Amino acid sequence: MTKLADRTTRISSSPTMQVTATVDRLRREGVEVIDFGAGEPDFPTPAAVKTAAHTALDQDFTRYTPPSGIVELKRAICDRYRADYGVEYRESEVIVTAGGKQALCNTALSLFGPGDEIITHAPYWPTLTEQIKLADASPVLVPTYADDGFAIRAGAILDRVTTRTRGIIINSPCNPTGALISESDLSAIADVAVAQGIWIVVDLCYERLIYDDVPHNLPRVLAAKCRDLTVLCGSASKAYAMTGWRCGWAIGPAPVIAACGAIQSHTTSNVMSISQKAAVAALTGSQAPVTAMLDEYRKRRDQLCTWLAADARLRCQKPAGAFYLFIDVGDLLSVDGLRTSLDLADALLKEARVAVTPGEAFDAPGFIRISYATSLDILREGTNRLLEFVKAHQGEPAAAS
Ligand SMILES: Cc1ncc(COP(=O)(O)O)c(C=O)c1O
Repeated sequence: MTKLADRTTRISSSPTMQVTATVDRLRREGVEVIDFGAGEPDFPTPAAVKTAAHTALDQDFTRYTPPSGIVELKRAICDRYRADYGVEYRESEVIVTAGGKQALCNTALSLFGPGDEIITHAPYWPTLTEQIKLADASPVLVPTYADDGFAIRAGAILDRVTTRTRGIIINSPCNPTGALISESDLSAIADVAVAQGIWIVVDLCYERLIYDDVPHNLPRVLAAKCRDLTVLCGSASKAYAMTGWRCGWAIGPAPVIAACGAIQSHTTSNVMSISQKAAVAALTGSQAPVTAMLDEYRKRRDQLCTWLAADARLRCQKPAGAFYLFIDVGDLLSVDGLRTSLDLADALLKEARVAVTPGEAFDAPGFIRISYATSLDILREGTNRLLEFVKAHQGEPAAAS
């Protein structure tokens, strides 16, 4: 039997990426599939960003850079956060990483260890908990509820604080629910973090994808209360349609960033040189493409919700951020039919050739996640298929409420 290191037995591969892999395999086999699984923008990377990358290549900007990133990009990140949130960070407080994923991983490895408890909210993006386990720490999960809009409540989080709590990870806007934490809830969490020396890590990878003009200045709330205990993780992936470029960042106290830098210098080293130049253009150039994409996502979200309202058993609320609908399909499950949302997602793919991510991937059985980072035409076709599938499996739909 192959003997692997213990840590491999604690984690499993990304279930969200498995959906993408299945769609790819089916398409290679010639099967036509509607993909509602993708966790990435369908838009091209903005033209100015691509131009910056071409220029970098033409200028042979193709060598190693400092492992923690080029100064120009660190400055651009500081400038962006100053402009967007009014917070001041220095270059020594920023590391450029291979996406938000590596920012979060470096942070977990730098801050957490054996015996530590790390609190986060569920449903959650699975990487967050797997990274906690990779750091030999234990995730402590705080449920959020559909009938409460999946609100991330300070009280529920703080109820789980013990003497072993070392960190609290907040993902806002949240994947898969689209929920935002309120500034007041975060502020209450920050008060306890200061009193007890607990790290607060905020996954802000969807920060630019918030539909309404609601208060969400999480960096400023934390900078005011517990700057020395805060790490902000961000990314160019979702805001600028740059998932493949692999460029993100962590912002936090210089010693933490130095530790992240040491880890990164012995693992992946610098983010691809050309991607870094592209990210500078993304962050410093016109932000109009971000707004244009957000407007389009909003249109799709609203349209999708209208279409899905045709069957009251597909229960969902409009998400406040990100680009996913998280649908309660509990009314469609039964012991003698589709038993779980995983069964439902499998059958939907087999019978209707629509790929969705089952709630099980986010520790939320009974739900499915639909990504609307795809065109309205595809959304229309996929929704028709979903509605027909639901009808076929459960007789006539209940009257829409
Ligand atoms: C909640 C959340 N955080 C972070 C990431 C990381 O994205 P990336 O590594 O592409 O920046 C993702 C990607 O899906 C995500 O959903």
